[in-house]
Amino acid sequence: AKAEIGVSGLATMGRNLARNLARHGHVVAVHNRSAQRTKDLVENFSDEGTFVGSESAQEFVDALERPRRIVLMVPAGAATDAVIDEFVPLLDQGDVIIDAGNAHFLDTRRREKALSEKGLNFVGMGVSGGEEGALNGPSIMPGGPKEAYDALGPLLEDIAAKVDGEPCCTHIGADGAGHFVKMVHNGIEYADMQLIAEAYDLLRKGLDLDPAAIADTFRQWNNGRLDSYLMEISSEVLSHVDADTGKPFVDVVADEAEQKGTGRWTVQGALELGVPVTGIGEAVFSRSLSGHRALRDAAHDLPGTSGAVLEGAAAEGFADDIEQALYASKIVAYAQGFNQIQAGAAEYDWSIDLGAVASIWRGGCIIRARFLDEITAAYRRDPELPTLLTDTSFREALAGAQDAWRRVVAVAAQLGIPAPGFSTALAYYDALRAERLPAALIQGQRDFFGAHTYRRTDRPGTFHTRWAEEGRPQEER
Ligand code: 6PG
Repeated sequence: AKAEIGVSGLATMGRNLARNLARHGHVVAVHNRSAQRTKDLVENFSDEGTFVGSESAQEFVDALERPRRIVLMVPAGAATDAVIDEFVPLLDQGDVIIDAGNAHFLDTRRREKALSEKGLNFVGMGVSGGEEGALNGPSIMPGGPKEAYDALGPLLEDIAAKVDGEPCCTHIGADGAGHFVKMVHNGIEYADMQLIAEAYDLLRKGLDLDPAAIADTFRQWNNGRLDSYLMEISSEVLSHVDADTGKPFVDVVADEAEQKGTGRWTVQGALELGVPVTGIGEAVFSRSLSGHRALRDAAHDLPGTSGAVLEGAAAEGFADDIEQALYASKIVAYAQGFNQIQAGAAEYDWSIDLGAVASIWRGGCIIRARFLDEITAAYRRDPELPTLLTDTSFREALAGAQDAWRRVVAVAAQLGIPAPGFSTALAYYDALRAERLPAALIQGQRDFFGAHTYRRTDRPGTFHTRWAEEGRPQEER
């Protein structure tokens, strides 16, 4: 019998995806640039299902039933283009190439266009959940033509994570929509990680708690509305003790956060679309700041408070305040990310169901959380919601959290503990609420130095004031 689906690129993610497919009873053709990996996979995991190992691209393609379904799990960028170029001459009309890597959505759009002109289907597919998710059930975000999803969907839904019996996989939208949504997922992942890290820092420096105590606090929080995979692994990391030194693991790790770039792409994309994703932006910038060792060394003795700790009445309830600030800031960060998806959909003409996106993020992916149930419900109540903040249930949560949130941001500033994620989220919240913004002054400045004109609140039209000629009336432009 021929293989139902093929996986090319057998590093950890590809290998685990192939094993997941085989474990679900699908015959999987497997292929890798160097044949040793293919051999290893077939040798080590044949008890899990049926693999058809192939040494060459031609052999791989011949092993597949038609229309062929080929999943590529190779590094994003030039490597992906190279593999596509290798397969294309061997394929027939209607065959489907699925790029399961972390491609930039604009590359996906380009590839989809080029391949559709050749009569091939191309599906850019976001896959989240790391190695473990790929094996046991990831969250899957496929884009590309709807017809391709019709042929592919059942297989993908079979291997995806399930929540309440529903697969964490849905057709996101045409061409690059799947990779776009995966990119924003990663941006949100950065923001969520940053907020948890700030909560840790505030508990540690503001209350003088040690990592083990903070791990306990996080474990408690994880039993409530903050229940999430990232919260859970954060307490694991914090309670881990370094075997070499006997010190808390977090104290022996260099405090310079790295990144492979998807968070940066999210912010770059948001800048292009004009969507204020300040939470994700602060998260990306905080990672870069942490990595500027020379800058930090040069500045480390600048004046400021440090080492001050809350005591007595001030300390009481502060941990709970941080929980509230974390929840509120998280709502803001997610609201911003969903707005970016909305804006991307409008720009690139995708019809994306935001409720469905929230729903497939409930399981399998890195940002999976109880909180995603709330977001799903919010978009089910109103698919056109302008921002998650105004949904009735989030409005209520923000109302309950805001006093604590303000206290935390104020205390962070007083104690000299940087909390950019918490602060920017609160500033965003207050800016959206504000009756008037100082943007009016900025318009005045622009008109003053560059005659850039302004609009008025009391009548329509475009105006310019003759600033140099005092007393002269403004003119309409
Ligand atoms: C996931 C993850 C994964 C991602 C890294 C990126 O959804 O499974 O988002 O796709 O590649 O976690 O991490 P860095 O940019 O922090 O290296």
